Amino acid sequence: MSPSWKDAWQEALYGPEGFYRRPEGPAGHFRTASHAAPEALAEGIARLASSVGARSIVDVGTGRGELLTALLPIAGQELWGVDVVGRPPGLPAAVQWAEGLDSLAPEAFDGALVIAWELLDVVVMDILEIDETGRPRTVLVDPVTGREQLAGPPASIDLEWIESWWPLDQLEEGDRIEVGLTRDRFWEDLLRRAPNAVAALCVDYAHTRATRPEQGSLSGFRAGREVPPRPDGTMDITAHVAIDSVAAVGGRTVECTTQAQALKQLGVTDPELLDEGGLGGFAWLLQEL
Ligand SMILES: C[S@@+](CC[C@H](N)C(=O)[O-])C[C@H]1O[C@@H](n2cnc3c(N)ncnc32)[C@H](O)[C@@H]1O
Repeated sequence: MSPSWKDAWQEALYGPEGFYRRPEGPAGHFRTASHAAPEALAEGIARLASSVGARSIVDVGTGRGELLTALLPIAGQELWGVDVVGRPPGLPAAVQWAEGLDSLAPEAFDGALVIAWELLDVVVMDILEIDETGRPRTVLVDPVTGREQLAGPPASIDLEWIESWWPLDQLEEGDRIEVGLTRDRFWEDLLRRAPNAVAALCVDYAHTRATRPEQGSLSGFRAGREVPPRPDGTMDITAHVAIDSVAAVGGRTVECTTQAQALKQLGVTDPELLDEGGLGGFAWLLQEL
């Protein structure tokens, strides 16, 4: 039997041959704000870090440390990168590195601005589909062919999340639900590890209860192109973040807006970062801890 999307996705991105372990890193396949305009972004983040009184910046899911490298000449804070791979070759020595959150010294979080930029969208999740009787069923996927089939009903914990965040009443046969519980738990765990941090920032493609995508948002990205998602380790697999449910498990929300609005307030003028139809349309959730 094929695995669930959650299990196949985990193996495809983070297994021994996983996509995120490839030497080219995320920048080889898609363009994030840190690739598009690193200096402009770094100026905004340096201003944010000063305004919240941060003594360090911990960038979790940092890719190959692109944002931190751009921050180095201008930020007064200690800089820490965390990702699933070892320290990238060529990363400036002054940027500190941890391979995985478990190997990050807890003190790194003291007084930190914690950043998760395009991280939660690659935290794997269960995908459900409404069957012909109107009930949600877990979607299984063949990692080689990408062929899907419907399995039994979802776990009760997934159903509880759906009841709160992705109501079924308007959905029809073939509609999809992306169960955000794993993202909520990731954010909760991250903030629990950082009790003495000053603030946490999550920036990602997102939706809220009013804007959930009926057909879901699961997508694949390979070598700069969007492709049908197939969990075979050759592509990124991503799905937008239910930012309202993430906000509900974290600290006190200081700001929940778009990247464009937030960066404008921080004095950033780069047009690509401010484009509401592109990177500027990402959700920007800033919480105080
Ligand atoms: C979409 S990329 C974004 C990279 C970077 N933040 C940027 O905006 O360019 C997501 C990154 O999160 C990393 N990641 C995913 N899960 C992680 C985890 N549990 N701990 C650390 N890094 C993780 C991936 O390896 C990948 O480098």
